[in-house]
Amino acid sequence: MKPTWLITGGAGFIGSNFLRLAYQRTDGRLVILDALTYAGNLANIKDLLTQPNVEFIHGDITDSDLVEKIFQNHNITQVINFAAESHVDRSILGPKAFIKTNIEGVFTLLEAAKNAWNGNFNNRLFLHVSTDEVYGSLKPNDSPRDETAPYRPNSPYASSKAASDHLVRAWNKTYGLPTLLTNCTNNYGPWQFPEKLIPLVILNALDGKELPVYGDGLQIRDWLHVSDHCEALLLILERGKVGETYNIGGNCERTNLTIVERICDAVDGLLDKKMGSTRSLIRHVTDRPGHDRRYSLNTSKLNRELGWTSKQSLDTSIPELVRWYFENREWAGKK
Ligand SMILES: NC(=O)c1ccc[n+]([C@@H]2O[C@H](COP(=O)([O-])OP(=O)(O)OC[C@H]3O[C@@H](n4cnc5c(N)ncnc54)[C@H](O)[C@@H]3O)[C@@H](O)[C@H]2O)c1
Repeated sequence: MKPTWLITGGAGFIGSNFLRLAYQRTDGRLVILDALTYAGNLANIKDLLTQPNVEFIHGDITDSDLVEKIFQNHNITQVINFAAESHVDRSILGPKAFIKTNIEGVFTLLEAAKNAWNGNFNNRLFLHVSTDEVYGSLKPNDSPRDETAPYRPNSPYASSKAASDHLVRAWNKTYGLPTLLTNCTNNYGPWQFPEKLIPLVILNALDGKELPVYGDGLQIRDWLHVSDHCEALLLILERGKVGETYNIGGNCERTNLTIVERICDAVDGLLDKKMGSTRSLIRHVTDRPGHDRRYSLNTSKLNRELGWTSKQSLDTSIPELVRWYFENREWAGKK
């Protein structure tokens, strides 16, 4: 029997990149469930929607009747859950949607998988995609967090993801559901909704608009190309140990200010700026409340056990990404 993957949030940033890679790598069926919130965009995957083994379902992961029907009608064998409210600033302004989608939605998916698979877990997997933000903020000299580190989420977003991770763990320990959990660092790449740092700064810089930087801009994040993240997820689906958690990261810590400056330099290069650098557009604005200073992951488990390493470098990717957003400005303006 060929597998049928349920890819939730497949019209979002990482989900759409994953869908594209999965389409090349599997001969099974790919069912996408996406509510098409402000962050979901069918234009991200329009080339795939006409393929015979791809089906798009417009719906919400918190809709238990719908989710249960999808499991029954499509004989789902794998779940890869990307669907989430994902922007920290929005979680500060309106946390309710984060509780609903990120916690209740994951509960709904877990229950539907448990009921549909009914103890027959052969060739069944439930992969939940989560974030490094669950481990909380690190000091400059703290060692990177491994999979055994305690959870210390600080934002409503991070706490809702942390809660969902705990649900996934409990459904594995209590009901034997074959789960996999991944915690990944900041992704960059094409088709990212332009509220997140990198696409926002690229598009503003291309338009000659101000480039807002929170506080001193010295918050440190680890950065990973979305294609490396998606490769890691496929590998974990193929060879990961059921019930385990894997950290995924790029071993590439940078301050936000450094990222913004690199983007400015790449934009200057692309637009052949002779009238002064785009760096002059940088504006330091009031910091986000509770803003974590640093995230950093120890990814040696994934390297050691599954032989994964990241392939893309941030420094060479930034100019390519600037060009991608430049050439796809119409896409960026669609939502
Ligand atoms: N972007 C990152 O840097 C990053 C890093 C680590 C982990 N993650 C995690 O990866 C996942 C995907 O992140 P992203 O950046 O692609 O997010 P995104 O915001 O770009 O996309 C989320 C997608 O989920 C859909 N969605 C939202 N609520 C839904 C609901 N109730 N039902 C069905 N669909 C719904 C949206 O329409 C959208 O297509 C998230 O779980 C996020 O926490 C993201």
